[in-house]
Amino acid sequence: MTALGKFRLGVLASGRGSNLQAIIDACRKGSLDAEVAIVISDNPGAYALERARTAGIPALALAPGRFASKTEYEQAVLSELRRAEVEAVALAGYMRLVGETLRLGFPERILNIHPALLPAFPGLHAQEQAWEYGVKYSGCTVHFIDEGMDSGPIIMQAAVPVLDEDTAKSLAERILVQEHRIYPQALQLLVEGRLEIVSGRVRLRPAPAGQGPQDREEGK
Ligand code: GRF
Repeated sequence: MTALGKFRLGVLASGRGSNLQAIIDACRKGSLDAEVAIVISDNPGAYALERARTAGIPALALAPGRFASKTEYEQAVLSELRRAEVEAVALAGYMRLVGETLRLGFPERILNIHPALLPAFPGLHAQEQAWEYGVKYSGCTVHFIDEGMDSGPIIMQAAVPVLDEDTAKSLAERILVQEHRIYPQALQLLVEGRLEIVSGRVRLRPAPAGQGPQDREEGK
């Protein structure tokens, strides 16, 4: 949290933005004690931008093609995030590998959600990959990013059973429900300062008494 009040989150999204919406909704409800200060998309047509504007959140498209290099593109993203005074960044369906410029701009402060139980099935179409493989469980993972694709210390996972009657689509739909549940929860742990990376693993610091949205709801 800053002198500005609530913890300020930046969100990067490339597409439909349903995870962004879950984050916005959790902020409104108070289960996530933060505010989305800016949404940036690499895709000017992303529905995520519309969701942000509907919610009254500054939304910006920065097309990488307009920049001479990935570094310059990421410098532009970084300066917008800084201008919005964000303290951490949530990737929500951001379809680019985060490069060094952005990563080092927010060390251990960039989170991603992936629709599989990492380290299984990184990359595109993870739900389809899992279904094709025939696993009995898949799910989703919230993690800190590192230099790899869908890798980095794992914060939270939710398992989803794969049913005989599933298609890749129905599996993806059930995984998405869990994504919307755990991403705001993981972000709340970040906001509370409870996430600590020790030897590449995320350790959860105990909750201080009388803090967090649950305590507030219960009037503690
Ligand atoms: C989600 O499945 C997320 O896990 C993955 O990309 C998808 C984005 O969906 N990284 P949405 O844009 O949040 O609806």
